[in-house]
Amino acid sequence: MTDTENVSQTISQTASNSDAVTATAQFLAPVVLGLQALTINGKQAHWHVRGANFIGVHELLDTVVAHAGDWADLAAERIVALGLPIDARLAAVAEKVAPTAVPAGFTKSGEIVRDVIADIDKVLADVKAAIDGLDEFDLSSQDIAIEIMRGLEKDRWFLFAHVAE
Ligand SMILES: [Fe+2]
Repeated sequence: MTDTENVSQTISQTASNSDAVTATAQFLAPVVLGLQALTINGKQAHWHVRGANFIGVHELLDTVVAHAGDWADLAAERIVALGLPIDARLAAVAEKVAPTAVPAGFTKSGEIVRDVIADIDKVLADVKAAIDGLDEFDLSSQDIAIEIMRGLEKDRWFLFAHVAE
């Protein structure tokens, strides 16, 4: 037996138990897909916003997109670190994520901010479900969901402040 064969036989793919692995994939996969969709639809909004506060909203939407991409990576790599794959190909995202509220074409800033907030709220519902569902299975995965919740709610506030009465 070579050293390589020996290693592959004695080191398991993950140190976590199977319930933790399964729950992590179950609860974080929708979060990954929703955040990947937000990166694409947020860019759509970034490119087509018009009207009041143009520069502020245009630049803030890029921040929202960048954060969404970072958090998708964080959640996806937690699943993979525990040994499972995730299908986050574009077709899978399109199939499993609800349609965006962001329209095609140029859109007034107040309207497009509300649309992006609506998209964020759909992601937040999955993030909240992940926090609740992972509580009894894997606290490290839950911690990732909590980090995403904290950050995404802050970005939501930054957007909301543009349209608050
Ligand atoms: Fe840009």
